[in-house]
Amino acid sequence: MLTNSDKRYGTVAVTLHWLIAAAIIFMLGLGLYMSDLPLNDASKFPLYQLHKSIGLTILTLSVIRLGWRAFNRPPPLPAHMPGWERLAAHASHALFYILMIGVPLAGWAMVSSSPWNIPTIWFGQFQIPPLPGLAEVADRAATESALKDLHSTLAFSMGGLLILHVGAALKHHFWDRDSVLLRMLPFTDVD
Ligand code: HEM
Ligand code: HEM
Repeated sequence: MLTNSDKRYGTVAVTLHWLIAAAIIFMLGLGLYMSDLPLNDASKFPLYQLHKSIGLTILTLSVIRLGWRAFNRPPPLPAHMPGWERLAAHASHALFYILMIGVPLAGWAMVSSSPWNIPTIWFGQFQIPPLPGLAEVADRAATESALKDLHSTLAFSMGGLLILHVGAALKHHFWDRDSVLLRMLPFTDVD
């Protein structure tokens, strides 16, 4: 089924979840690796372009995912979950959505304000414009530096949340033995 049922996530939600998850995990590693490379390393520039292209794709997919979710509610949490666990699940999912939009937006804002004016070419195809207003700020270097800190802090928070999220999914599967992990996996029969 393309849409969610009251027992499991549908194909659209599952595909978007795993596509975005894989891309984000790759991007956390790529971001750390590329920013550590010396300026004279030949792969630095193409890796930054790749990072920006994948990051803007994650931003677009996340907006599509939120739109889909608005019309297609997720399956309810299992009845056995105590109130604090429900609250933690809802809060962490909401925080993930905020970060899935906030991390790439902060990255885009950072490169838009950069005094280096390096163009962002989406997978070598077309140029992405800067976010409005940021190329005209009075002190571009200070703005870029503040946004760099913001992008980095939000990305690290995402990494921390990912550890909690994976821990919760494994707890559901191996400890509570409920269907929470299975219903987000493709090709599983949940009833
Ligand atoms: C979900 C998407 C993204 C993730 C998970 C992510 C993650 C990261 C991480 C972990 C770093 C290293 C931070 C550090 O070393 O302190 C980084 C650096 C960077 N990111 Fe992203 N990023 C994303 C999207 C973007 C986007 C959309 C752009 C721009 C359009 C961007 C531009 C950059 C740049 C230019 C740097 C290097 C900053 C420097 O030179 O220190 N990122 N990113
Ligand atoms: C950075 C990577 C990831 C992000 C951003 C992410 C984000 C999310 C979000 C926002 C939801 C809530 C879906 C909704 O109801 O709208 C969700 C659900 C879920 N995620 Fe992830 N996820 C990531 C990685 C993973 C990984 C690696 C696992 C596997 C261990 C996983 C397992 C699950 C499961 C089982 C659910 C369903 C929870 C439920 O039924 O309420 N996620 N994820």
